[in-house]
Amino acid sequence: MNEKPLVILAHPMPKEWVAPLYERTRVVVGPDGVPGIHPSLEPYFPEVEGLFTWLTDRVDEALLDRMPRLKVISNYAVGVDNIDVAACTRRGIPVGHTPGVLTDAVADLTWALILAVARGIFPAAQDAREGRWGLWHATRWLGYDLVGRTLGIVGMGQIGQAVARRAAGFQMRVLYTSRTPKPAIEAELNAQRVDLDTLLAASDVVSLHVPLTPETRGLIGEAQLRRMKPTAILINMARGAVVDTEALLRALREGWIAGAGLDVTDPEPLPADHPLYQLPNVVITPHIGSATYGTRRAMAELAVENLLAGLEGRRLPRVVNPEVYER
Ligand code: NAP
Ligand code: GLV
Ligand code: GLV
Repeated sequence: MNEKPLVILAHPMPKEWVAPLYERTRVVVGPDGVPGIHPSLEPYFPEVEGLFTWLTDRVDEALLDRMPRLKVISNYAVGVDNIDVAACTRRGIPVGHTPGVLTDAVADLTWALILAVARGIFPAAQDAREGRWGLWHATRWLGYDLVGRTLGIVGMGQIGQAVARRAAGFQMRVLYTSRTPKPAIEAELNAQRVDLDTLLAASDVVSLHVPLTPETRGLIGEAQLRRMKPTAILINMARGAVVDTEALLRALREGWIAGAGLDVTDPEPLPADHPLYQLPNVVITPHIGSATYGTRRAMAELAVENLLAGLEGRRLPRVVNPEVYER
């Protein structure tokens, strides 16, 4: 018997984006609109060899225990905080992800939020739409200038660098934090590596681009928000739990900072009745950083390459845990 390997696609994907999967594997698809690996897929667990996950799907030890033939996990995202990678490594299962192909899309949305919050675009557009325009006015709808001010990048990885590069168009000074120094970026962008407290106190825009890890969970809490300037803006493009939501709400209500742009929240989705939505100086988007036609397709193609490589025993083009190949 030379049957094709079984793959679980946790949620529906456009067939033309993942066409090689349908040619070379047997695909079973989970439901739309429900987070996690759905119980209806349980009958396939004993047989499944490849698992294609979204960032809303938690993969833990208990799930892995039930998939004894699993050879590869391909996450349709660059962040892998939804997956217990250490547990996968212990089992020799490579985990694939999608860095690089989404960098520009995410950096563009970061700037969309920076500009939207700095210039108060949403309340102003709402006023126009709802008949509150009145007359052109000297002191209504005032926002903040960006040119010449300071951008603080927390996590100078691929996305952080792309955001910093775009700041050159605004002649902004760039400060950053990261675990390791980035001399090439410092030279290219005249960026300066500082500690987090210094960055928070000096920046007019603080933009978060770290992965969610035990070290970055709750990185921005009350103490950090109180260090920021009252005229500063916080952007979270990383993961919701990097910021303490309750502390952020207080910071915005009490004017410790001027505004926030959040593409990710904790919890996610943020419930429709959450008080953060009521604040005029907050723009919240539903985790759409990589959501362009071209980028989501490129991510799908890379995720399929990762999955097929794992099924065929080849090294994944983009692997999170290369240690599995050193055993
Ligand atoms: P990346 O290239 O790996 O960059 C991550 C950066 O964070 C690296 O520079 C790393 O430093 C730094 N870092 C890690 N831990 C840190 C810590 N404790 N303190 C300070 N810096 C730390 O990843 P990326 O492609 O830029 O993606 C970053 C994250 O963005 C993803 O993990 C994901 O959570 C999020 N994301 C969100 C969206 C969205 O739709 N909103 C889309 C894509 C990604 P070193 O370089 O020194 O290791
Ligand atoms: C999206 O948030 C990603 O990590 O790719
Ligand atoms: C505004 O529209 C101006 O001309 O200054």
